[in-house]
Amino acid sequence: MATHNQGKVAELRELLRDTGWTCGGLPDGTPDFPEDGDTFGENARGKALFYAEHVGAVALADDSGLMIDALDGEPGVYSARYIDPAISQEERNAAVLDRLRGIPPQQRGAQFVCHLVLARSGDVVRETTGVCQGAITNRVHGDGGFGYDPIFRPAGHTPTFAEMPRATKSALSHRGQAVAAMVDFLRNCEPEPGVS
Ligand code: IMP
Repeated sequence: MATHNQGKVAELRELLRDTGWTCGGLPDGTPDFPEDGDTFGENARGKALFYAEHVGAVALADDSGLMIDALDGEPGVYSARYIDPAISQEERNAAVLDRLRGIPPQQRGAQFVCHLVLARSGDVVRETTGVCQGAITNRVHGDGGFGYDPIFRPAGHTPTFAEMPRATKSALSHRGQAVAAMVDFLRNCEPEPGVS
């Protein structure tokens, strides 16, 4: 998996159980791929192709983020560094709430998007996308999860992502949906050797 985030690797390894596939993260010392595309798909395709070539194995890359209707789809691909890369996520969430101050509930729609790309030596093998619709709250709720979880309430639910057990969030989330579709695909593919 094209990430140094061991949490993502562990989560995917668990979901791949019983498929014949397993996964690992990027080897230490792997160079970073610049995520400067205009779309989640562009970033994930770039990453998957770059790392498949670099490690000489099948690579799976993701890109995800939050799109807020009242901010014309921002922060989008800039989610991780929105407003100012140097501020904390708490400050970023507070700044987003500030930008939405006075906007009524029916105009606070937002969606999380996750794009996954599986690549092998110069070819994109499969792409999957997950979207989770919801709304931005008026204030921070909960301290679980990460990123924008404390200010995002998925449609049809009262708690925010930050107030849900991890398994409940995964069953609803953009990433959960994209990964489930990719795992379904891999279930029907012959496992290939990776890097160790
Ligand atoms: P990445 O694709 O994992 O690099 O995520 C990009 C950014 O999008 C993260 O730094 C978060 O700010 C935001 N993001 C993506 N997925 C989630 C989520 O499930 N909850 C909260 N924030 C998220």
